[in-house]
Amino acid sequence: MEKKIFYVTTPIYYPSAKAHIGHALTTTMADTLTRHKKLAGYDTWFLTGTDEHGQKIEKIAKERGISPQEHVDKIVPMFQELWHSLNIEYSDFIRTTEDRHKTAVQKIFMKIFEKGDIYKGVYRDYYCTPCETFWKEKDLLEGNACPDCGGCTEIVEEECYFLRMSKYGNLLVNYINDHPEFIQPEIRKHEMLNFIGQGLEDLCVSRSSFTWGVPVPVEAGHIVYVWLDALTNYISALGYGTENDDLYQKFWGESTVHLVGKDIIRFHTVIWPIILMAADLPLPKTVFGHGWVLLNSGKMSKSKGNVVDPKALIEIYGSDAIRYFLLREMTYGQDVNFSQDALTLRSNTDLSNDYGNLLSRTTAMINKYCEGIIPFPKVVDEGMELKAMCDQLPENVNKYMDKFDFANALAEIWKVINKGNKYIEDSSPWALAKDVIQKDRLSTVLYNLAESIRICTILIGSFMPETPGKVWKQLGVNNLAKSWKWEELAWGKLPSGIKINRGEPLFPRIELAEDTERIEKKAEKQAKKEQKHAEKIEKTASLEIFSEENLTGINLISIDEVAKLELRIAEIITAEKVEKADKLLKLQIKIGTEDRVLVAGIALQYLPEELIGKKIVIVYNLKPALLRGIMSYGMLLAASIDEKMSLITVDRDIPSGAKVK
Ligand code: ME8
Ligand code: MG
Repeated sequence: MEKKIFYVTTPIYYPSAKAHIGHALTTTMADTLTRHKKLAGYDTWFLTGTDEHGQKIEKIAKERGISPQEHVDKIVPMFQELWHSLNIEYSDFIRTTEDRHKTAVQKIFMKIFEKGDIYKGVYRDYYCTPCETFWKEKDLLEGNACPDCGGCTEIVEEECYFLRMSKYGNLLVNYINDHPEFIQPEIRKHEMLNFIGQGLEDLCVSRSSFTWGVPVPVEAGHIVYVWLDALTNYISALGYGTENDDLYQKFWGESTVHLVGKDIIRFHTVIWPIILMAADLPLPKTVFGHGWVLLNSGKMSKSKGNVVDPKALIEIYGSDAIRYFLLREMTYGQDVNFSQDALTLRSNTDLSNDYGNLLSRTTAMINKYCEGIIPFPKVVDEGMELKAMCDQLPENVNKYMDKFDFANALAEIWKVINKGNKYIEDSSPWALAKDVIQKDRLSTVLYNLAESIRICTILIGSFMPETPGKVWKQLGVNNLAKSWKWEELAWGKLPSGIKINRGEPLFPRIELAEDTERIEKKAEKQAKKEQKHAEKIEKTASLEIFSEENLTGINLISIDEVAKLELRIAEIITAEKVEKADKLLKLQIKIGTEDRVLVAGIALQYLPEELIGKKIVIVYNLKPALLRGIMSYGMLLAASIDEKMSLITVDRDIPSGAKVK
């Protein structure tokens, strides 16, 4: 069988949200699995992305005075940067606003529509805008509140297209029962079977009350509604339905593994398979539903809640420690409690004490007893238990990784690390060093330690990609390590005679009190930086309307200053010359129902009689001023160059009093 696997996370949906550490879980899991399988010789593909349509995004963009596209374009790089700083190495990043995605959505819609499993009807239900979810009355909380977020729901009635889910209930149940690997963990499978058992209703897959989405190909004014759109990203990214569908052919179906949060398992194990069945496409091999990252809000408040910001956390703890924490604390599909204490504890114990110290002690002893050269292991029967554990380790890790049990996979590695530390105590190299007869044994003990570190580190690299480089540098095997694959997990592949470079502790200990302070300061700094950045963006945005060369000498004002000006349309009723003032005309004007007198310096360019009935633009909220004994209320706008002047008038009929913006 060809070894290939396709890991895919759900695309992130971010109406306005800031990324939080919970978002990092799915992506970190998928990255770790991909790296591990790659190490094991698999051909891999790892897809992640962003889910960018929907009413909420449309609404927020409107509130911010920008287009939905501009809004999402601003947020996507933020996630991509975060993934980068967590060393997430995706093969592809799909945005549901890309053309390649939109075409695929329309294609799959058409396919199901032509088959008759998408049909038109009327939808009437309770809708929760923040959750973008429809609810049945029976599911609502008191006062018709949304059972998910507790917010208000509203009755929505509109024409829409339905997916004939009801037709596929039995087929799906059979499929789930015939494919024990399909829904994992087991508990989710029972939940889903139970849910389907209650009967499936047809699903609304289009909307017409807003426009931010993929147009329905069979009727203008309708857009494809969130799930049929978002879920299709998994195959649109692979080139489904296009001329170049090699990736789709290669990775879709039996090699596909979905990683999703438990909140959306239903969409991935009921709606998604039915969409695929209706479109006559293969189903994925597995959907794994992971738990949530829960925030220990009591502790968090100390740092004003900012520490859930992954950027701040990464700067303090390092990306590897964050990844380690998430994966080590996640007991098979269950929730992870995130707290700064727990993160610090993991970092200080597992990483600094156990792993870091093993390396530090080993390299210190190689320096002290072997002149910094990795010794040759002459005594064959030395350290047999440690060696046996290392021999078993790759398969043990594999076994847990195939079950998405990251915590136990790491626990297996740490058993070896702890065995290494115990081996130091048991064999007491410092005692062996005092005895010339024990010289060969001492060499062998130190070799065994270095070799166990090497084997653990290769495997650790999938979980913590930054760490191996540091270890290889210290062991002096930087260049060699680059080509180490699964085969090099075999005992004895570490060459002797190499000069080591003992260095800094792998994971410096973190002092919690200090650390909290540091995080708070960092978060404050970050907030200031973001504020500045926002101001800068605002500035550049206002600059964009000018070309570079025109900028010199312009006194720029902000939009707020512009907003202070109240301009209105006024109609000139009468006009007469002002005595003893050549340039001035006294105008009677009407602004809606209001009458005003306005004195204007246009007598050299305009005769009074030609002004009657003209509609002009005035500054309506100018402070009144006394001009040649006449109180003038407002100022008219006119363009002038050299001796020429032209009043600003309107180009079609509009009543006086109208605002000019
Ligand atoms: O659900 N802990 O997007 P999303 C663990 N776009 N996982 C979490 C989490 C937390 N605190 N918060 C979010 C969506 N996630 C839709 C999916 S699928 C076609 C469309 C997980 O941004 C969540 O479970 O709300 C999901 O797997 C992913 O992050 C994106 O969540
Ligand atoms: Mg969500």
